[in-house]
Order: sequence, then C-alpha cells, then structure tokens
Amino acid sequence: MSRFLTRLVYLTFTIILGLLIFACVNTAGASLPLISGHTPQLVAPVVAALAPVVEQVEQLVFVDLKLSIVYPVIQNFKKIITSDPLGITKSWVGSDICKYKGFYCDNPPYNTSAITLASIDFNGFQLSAPSLDGFLDLLPDIALFHANSNFFTGTISSNIANLPFLYELDISNNLFSGPFPTAILGMSSLSFLDIRFNMFTGSVPPQLFMKDLDALFINNNDFMQRLPDNLGGSHIILLTLANNKFFGPIPRDIAKALSSITEVLFLNNKLSGCLPYELGFLKEAVVFDAGNNQLSGPIPYSLGCLESVEVLNFAGNMFSGPICRSLITKGVLDVRRNCIPGLPFQRSILECAAFFSRSRHCPYYASYFYIPCWLPNFSSPPLATLLAPSPT
Ligand SMILES: *[C@@H]1O[C@H](CO)[C@@H](O)[C@H](O)[C@H]1NC(C)=O
Ligand SMILES: *[C@@H]1O[C@H](CO)[C@@H](O)[C@H](O)[C@H]1NC(C)=O
Repeated sequence: MSRFLTRLVYLTFTIILGLLIFACVNTAGASLPLISGHTPQLVAPVVAALAPVVEQVEQLVFVDLKLSIVYPVIQNFKKIITSDPLGITKSWVGSDICKYKGFYCDNPPYNTSAITLASIDFNGFQLSAPSLDGFLDLLPDIALFHANSNFFTGTISSNIANLPFLYELDISNNLFSGPFPTAILGMSSLSFLDIRFNMFTGSVPPQLFMKDLDALFINNNDFMQRLPDNLGGSHIILLTLANNKFFGPIPRDIAKALSSITEVLFLNNKLSGCLPYELGFLKEAVVFDAGNNQLSGPIPYSLGCLESVEVLNFAGNMFSGPICRSLITKGVLDVRRNCIPGLPFQRSILECAAFFSRSRHCPYYASYFYIPCWLPNFSSPPLATLLAPSPT
C-alpha cells in the first residue's frame, strides 16, 4: 500500500513538472508522452536521479532468504553468458527470481512454508556459456535442471553430487565434452539423465547401470566400450545408447531387471554376437532398435512373445536364421539388409557369402526355436531348467 502511495506521489510530481515544462517550452513532441501517462523526455534527469534509489530498495527484498542466496549465483552466471539471441537474460533482474525466464520456485521438501528455486527450464534458449560450474552446483534445492539445445561447453563439476534433490538432469544437445561426468554416480535422487547429443568420450562407468534410473539417454556422443554385462541390473524404462561405439554382445541377462523397459535404442553402434533368446522376456518393450550393428546368427522366435512391441528394428546387421514371420507381416519387425534366405531386401549374395565363409555359431542354438510365452509359468527366463549346455 505504502509503495503504491509513493508511486502515486511520484507520478503526480512528474506530471506536474511535465506540465510546467510543457507550458514553458510548448513543443508538440513533449505533449504526447503525457497522454499515455509516461514520463516526458524533458524531465529525464530528475527521474534518473530518483530511479536508482527505488531499484536498490527493490533488490534487497527477497520473499525468502533462500532466494537471496541464489541471487548472486544467478547474476554471476549471467555475467559469463556470451550469447543470448532470444534476450532471455533481460528478465534476470531484480529480487523476484521466481519471475525470471526459465526459473521456477516451489517449497523445498524439508520446509513447506519456505520458497526456494526448485527448477530450471532453459530448453531451447540458445544461450552460450563456457561452463555451468559455479552455477548449477551452487543451487542447493534444485530438483529439475533442463537445459537442452543451448551452447553450453566445458565439463560438469564434481560438485553436482552435492545436490540432494536433483532428480532430472537434461543437458542434451549442448557442446559438453570430456569423459563421462562420474559425479553423476554420486547423485542420490537422480532418476532421469539425458546427456545425448554432446561430445562426451571414453566409457560410461558400469555403475551407471546400477543406479535407480527411469530414463537414461546417452546417445549421440562418442562413447566407446563393450556393452556392460550388468545392463540388466537396472530398472530403466527408457534406455538409449544409439549412435556411439558400443561393441560386444547384448548381455544374456538383459531381461533380468529390464523387464519393465519400454524403449531400448542400440542402433548405430558396433554390437556383435548373437541375440540372446531372453529378449523375448522384455514383456513391456514397445521399441527395440538394434539396427545397423554387426549382430549375427538367428533371430530368436522368442521375440514373438513381445506383446506390446511396435518397432523391432534389426535392419543392417548380419542375421541369417529363423524368424517369427508374423512379426514382419504385422509391420513390426524390420530385418532388411541382413542375410536371411528367402526374404526381400537382403544384402548382396557376395556380401553374405563372405560372411558365411567364416565359421560362426551361437550358443544355446535350440533356444532360438523356443517360444517362452507358450511355456507354463512365463515370467522369468527359465534358462537353467530349459537349456542344455551349448550344443554348438
Ligand atoms: C521454514 O521457512 C520459513 C520461511 O523461510 C522460515 O521462516 C522458517 O523458520 C523455516 N522453518 C524451519 C523449521 O526451518
Ligand atoms: C508353475 O506355477 C505353479 C503355481 O505357482 C507351481 O505350482 C508350478 O510348480 C509351476 N511350474 C513350474 C514348471 O515351475
């Protein structure tokens, strides 16, 4: 109320002063701003003298102490932003952090009457900055950080492990480089990790697949490593490793814990070896894409048990054997550019002949003909009871 009164007095003063000047100078130009209630240009020096006082007072008033703590962190980050084509940071002024573009406030979980900076959504802002260090890692209550499609570079600070509430981290489609940020392994609340479309190199620590993540997107980086054996040890629902250089076979126990997975994207890597028949136990799978790898051997009949599947892509590999043709008829299974006799759009005879000339065989050959969902108690892979040792 008192602020309103101050403004009213201030405005009245301005108008009177303007009218006085207008009466003296009587120029057409000065009369126009008066109609719209704006400060006439001629009194600008007076306004300039008053304005800093008003702004300073406003800057000091934070609705919560927590916001006054993150204020300098945000302002320091703003200073290192080198490009902001959409003018986002223009809104990052004053004490009302909760109204800054991209910033969202909420009550922290430990005090429901406090107000804190809870999430950041910079998606598509096209900001350039040399680093997120000294920014993201200094936002103690942050729960969501989404910053896809910017031009952030550098590496990720190991201090992000100290953010107890951060559960969604999306830094996809930026210019981050260096090894996988291992600090991520120490993040206690993380359930969604998206670092795709960056330039990370080296290998992903196998412990990542033991974290309790719902979604893991690490596609379109430059990771080069054997597909970890413990892949099936996670409870991931969306797993995307596409467009890297993962090699080695798809692990046999993939279905152990991944039984709730709905999307698996392995395409465009260097995976090799035979498909495990246990893939047929990925009951919730909607998309399984292992296209453009170097996988070989038969395509197990067990895939016919994937009741929810809509896309099964095995195109561009070296598959040769049995196949559940009904999946092709349904338009679900794509096996073009393999070496499967009797099917259209396969690799050239020459290419396939060269491949078959090298002796290869898959273990548990009989398993390729099993259809586990036809067996009693179809729930987990009954491998031990069903399969004899590798017949070769
Ligand atoms: C919760 O937050 C409010 C507002 O910041 C504060 O006044 C109060 O002391 C806090 N309560 C506790 C238990 O920390
Ligand atoms: C199938 O499940 C039933 C009931 O749970 C159980 O009695 C039976 O032994 C199981 N059969 C096999 C082959 O595991």
